[in-house]
Amino acid sequence: MNIIKVRNLKKSFGDNVVFENLTFSVKKGSIFSIVGPSGSGKSTLGKIILGLEKYDSGEIYYKESLLEDLLKKNKKRFRREVQIILQNSSSSLNPRQKIKEILKEPFLIHKISFTDKSLVKLLEEVGLNSSFLNRYPREMSGGQRQRIAIARILTLRPELIILDEILRGLDLSLQGQLMNLILKIKKSYGFTIIMITHNKEIVDFLSDYILRLQNSVVSGKKQRIGTPPREDV
Ligand SMILES: Nc1ncnc2c1ncn2[C@@H]1O[C@H](COP(=O)(O)OP(=O)(O)O)[C@@H](O)[C@H]1O
Ligand SMILES: [Mg+2]
Repeated sequence: MNIIKVRNLKKSFGDNVVFENLTFSVKKGSIFSIVGPSGSGKSTLGKIILGLEKYDSGEIYYKESLLEDLLKKNKKRFRREVQIILQNSSSSLNPRQKIKEILKEPFLIHKISFTDKSLVKLLEEVGLNSSFLNRYPREMSGGQRQRIAIARILTLRPELIILDEILRGLDLSLQGQLMNLILKIKKSYGFTIIMITHNKEIVDFLSDYILRLQNSVVSGKKQRIGTPPREDV
């Protein structure tokens, strides 16, 4: 079953055609990677799938429903099921909130009941202990903040997680640790991953499918080249 289906997608900013004729599917439970040079449209594509960016033409389906219908009729559920983690997660963590408050937020927003124990359990899922509850984001390393960003969305039991360059800026061993952690959690939670990354080794090793976006050198316009390594769309 496909969790995402994209058909003939076109996106431009004025004269800048970021991509067109973009067609691919993301299988439920898979790891789908989007790679390509800076400016090739990876983050834009991620935002479009999240329903946060408009597109010119084409269709996007989330679990067989047209994305634009879902955003009209069932936005809250969609917002809960599809999550993103960005490279600089410290920017999405409120610096004035302790980790405890940060972890409570999704429970409160989505009216999910919880106890202090739920918060400790979330920390444990991402390999941190309860001593972090009273810390502020600035008192943690970049890798630890990424773990908090992951813990926070686990509350929502997401079905699809978009990871936009979350490894960037971390040293190699931290990149490996973070990916191992995500794989471990993926096993128990069973979500699908769309991974945007520059780390070629990790992409080749983990991905079920790789979509390569390119900046065309011919006309100054961009074009898309999709390379299915293991299976066809
Ligand atoms: N809000 C925006 N307004 C105008 N142009 C944008 C906007 N966001 C992205 N772009 C342009 O779209 C192209 C793709 O950007 P982006 O998706 O950020 O690429 P990537 O994530 O692959 O580095 C770039 O040419 C960028 O300048
Ligand atoms: Mg980007």
